Amino acid sequence: MRVNIVTLFPEYFDSPLEVSFVRRAIADGLLEVVTHDPRMHAKGAHRQIDDAPFGGGAGMVMMIEPLAKTLEPLADTHRVFLTPAGTPLDQAMLDRFATMPEITLVCGRYEGIDERIVEHFIDEEVSLGDFVLLGGEVAAAAIVEGVVRLLPGAIGNPASTESESFRSQLLEEPQYTRPSEYRGWKVPDVLLSGDHGAIERWRAEQRLSRTLERRPDLIDDEGSDG
Ligand code: ADE
Repeated sequence: MRVNIVTLFPEYFDSPLEVSFVRRAIADGLLEVVTHDPRMHAKGAHRQIDDAPFGGGAGMVMMIEPLAKTLEPLADTHRVFLTPAGTPLDQAMLDRFATMPEITLVCGRYEGIDERIVEHFIDEEVSLGDFVLLGGEVAAAAIVEGVVRLLPGAIGNPASTESESFRSQLLEEPQYTRPSEYRGWKVPDVLLSGDHGAIERWRAEQRLSRTLERRPDLIDDEGSDG
């Protein structure tokens, strides 16, 4: 899979791409990440990429031409603009992105980008959540990480991606490992019992009670959008 990232800060991605499974997926040729800096297409000695908004108001808006010139050659790819005004990112979206051979993630900065870019060069707008960051870079890094672990062969144990939170629409049960007691804090007895039926029942109960307590919306929504 190829991921293009359009960003004014390509260096932002240096270390996230050099860690853990992302690094390995790139080394193994499963993933290719290419950054594209719109400033390369900016004009003038100052390479201006933003300007004041028409109609007035605070902040600066990313200009149309540098982004248009950056995105035009990527017209055959699925182009995603990262913005708090987009559809909230979820697992179903990552599943869909992971099936695509090539995707382009467009990071905004400043107050926004000229809306004509969205109209003519963007297929989908996506938000990381109901909060405002300085730009789309963190969201792009989140998508890369969420997609990598779905690429066949990118992580060791494919079963572990399937049983997880958000695919089953329930949160995961708590996990424990050795030692069974630390400073008097004990692992639940059932997990040490060797009774696999009891363990599975306990885990199912934990998933349900956690979800009801923390994310009742996941249960209310279940089945409504597949
Ligand atoms: N850029 C700024 N805030 C963002 C958010 N919440 N999601 C995606 N891109 C953003």
